Amino acid sequence: MTRLLFITLCSVFLATSCTKEKTPFTQAPNCNGTVSFANDVLPVIQQNCTGCHDVGNGAGGYELSNYANVSAHANAVLGSMRNSGYQLMPMGGPALPDSTIQLIECWIYQGKLDN
Ligand code: HEC
Repeated sequence: MTRLLFITLCSVFLATSCTKEKTPFTQAPNCNGTVSFANDVLPVIQQNCTGCHDVGNGAGGYELSNYANVSAHANAVLGSMRNSGYQLMPMGGPALPDSTIQLIECWIYQGKLDN
């Protein structure tokens, strides 16, 4: 019984510490409805990033051509747009408008849906 309790507590601790480490948010972003990957996120990436981060020209090792690789690098994508922990992107700036960055934040916050 004690052992079970111990295991349960450890799992809860591990789960919360992992979540904290992975979540790039100090507070919930202000989202206006559910963000769509296809209609909201991908167009932003295509207009501002894939010129340098497409298949075969993945600058800095980042290929941002589709859902699989954008979602795999979501924290780096957001970090670079915010210039926090990563070099500012689009390279050379200016930074994207806050409302655009917020879309990416909301998409990540809502679980990086493939929608
Ligand atoms: C004009 C070309 C260009 C554009 C446009 C561009 N990038 Fe980059 N990006 C680069 C290059 C070159 C590097 C590698 C820089 C280096 O290694 O010093 C890089 C590196 C990165 C990195 C890694 C940065 C780091 O500090 O490790 C991320 C993440 C990234 N880009 C994301 C993006 C996103 C997201 C966009 C669109 C908002 C974008 N990039 C637009 C050229 C570009």
